[in-house]
Amino acid sequence: MDVTVTLTVNGTKKTITTHPERPLLDVLREELHLTGTKYGCGEGRCGACTVLMDGERVLSCVTPVAQADKKSITTIEGLAEGDSLHPVQQAFLAEGAMQCGYCTPGMIMTAVALLEKNPTPTDDEIATAMNVNICRCNGYPKILNAVRRAGKK
Ligand code: FES
Ligand code: FES
Repeated sequence: MDVTVTLTVNGTKKTITTHPERPLLDVLREELHLTGTKYGCGEGRCGACTVLMDGERVLSCVTPVAQADKKSITTIEGLAEGDSLHPVQQAFLAEGAMQCGYCTPGMIMTAVALLEKNPTPTDDEIATAMNVNICRCNGYPKILNAVRRAGKK
């Protein structure tokens, strides 16, 4: 049976009536047209679908939308302020830390969550925090540089 879920997405309240087990990723992409969050594996193994829920990183492909009820969700589209990119987005650009770009939104969301808790992580702490996020283009050295750079701001 469908349920009605109210969630705040990038600062705007949204009400959705749908199956409670429907993945949050599906709702973001299909109902709210926020296609910056990517579908990779669909089973919690690649990090492409990473978003923040009340500031904590979650894998939206394995998060039932009912769990997001009354929560605040931030997607990659919610990071920039007007024309100003978020410092982590700026750092990824400055370091050229993307090739095809498919993993990039998830990488950036994970880095944002990390740096909010630990603004100056060591390389080991970055590697541990990011280890759910897979880059098929093997861009890890530049991604590490980007997170380091953002951590220094
Ligand atoms: S699509 Fe969610 S972890 Fe891969
Ligand atoms: S830049 Fe292509 S998957 Fe990471």
